Amino acid sequence: MKNNATRPIGIFDSGLGGLTVAKAIHLMLPNEEIIYFGDTAHLPYGDKSKDTIVQYSARITKFLVEEQCKVIVIACNSASSNAYEEVVKQAGSNIHVLNVIDPVVNYIVETDYKKIGVIGTKSTIDTNTYFNKIHKKKKGVYVLSMATPLLVPMIEEGFIFDDISNAIIRTYLSRREISGIDTLILGCTHYPIIKNQINKFYNFDVDIIDTGKIIAESLRLLLDKESIRNTSTKRGVKNFYVSDLTRYFKLIARMFFEEEIELEKLNLWK
Ligand code: DGL
Repeated sequence: MKNNATRPIGIFDSGLGGLTVAKAIHLMLPNEEIIYFGDTAHLPYGDKSKDTIVQYSARITKFLVEEQCKVIVIACNSASSNAYEEVVKQAGSNIHVLNVIDPVVNYIVETDYKKIGVIGTKSTIDTNTYFNKIHKKKKGVYVLSMATPLLVPMIEEGFIFDDISNAIIRTYLSRREISGIDTLILGCTHYPIIKNQINKFYNFDVDIIDTGKIIAESLRLLLDKESIRNTSTKRGVKNFYVSDLTRYFKLIARMFFEEEIELEKLNLWK
């Protein structure tokens, strides 16, 4: 096995939205080798049952363990809220696991926000993970959660800054369920793409949490604490695998990673 610091960081998502997290990690830790796996054959996870998400996540974890990753980042809120314990179990004691929810919760509880909104997929919101984790660490704050399932297909179809996206964003965010909030957690790795439109909807009166940066920072702290940060001066190799590959996936990968990347098809379920 390679020494701990030079082992890769494994990142996985139901598809390509997790590339927003991979990008933030790449920007903060450019020398780290990254192995990204997007389960495009099975997406979306956002409307799947816990059992199914656990099963898919366990198989991907097995692959990332075989690749000798030093850390596995679950770059998907639906998998983080439904399959974190299973991923930790599968990863074993030699691999650290970071989900995308805990770093954001730790950040939020250190702030003065009183009415915290959370939007995400149905499978994330149904678990009440953000609500439970925030309330466990901090009393006296409101956590208002709402599933916004149309946002993922809307973004993937390229409706980002137009009449359709503005109407969908306005309709969701005007609902009573999350009214009067002072901050909004984007509890889905697709949503950073529409952060500007959400800011515009709120006239910049509501703070939108930049989750990618918070997760990358938390990974950096973990690598330093465990003394497993790659100190090489060379840029780390990045490999991007997907369980299904179409021309369309290539296009949306570019949108999420903000640069051209090579996707390689790897069907772990064959
Ligand atoms: N990546 C998923 C998440 O962050 C959204 C896409 C899906 O539903 O698979 O929850």
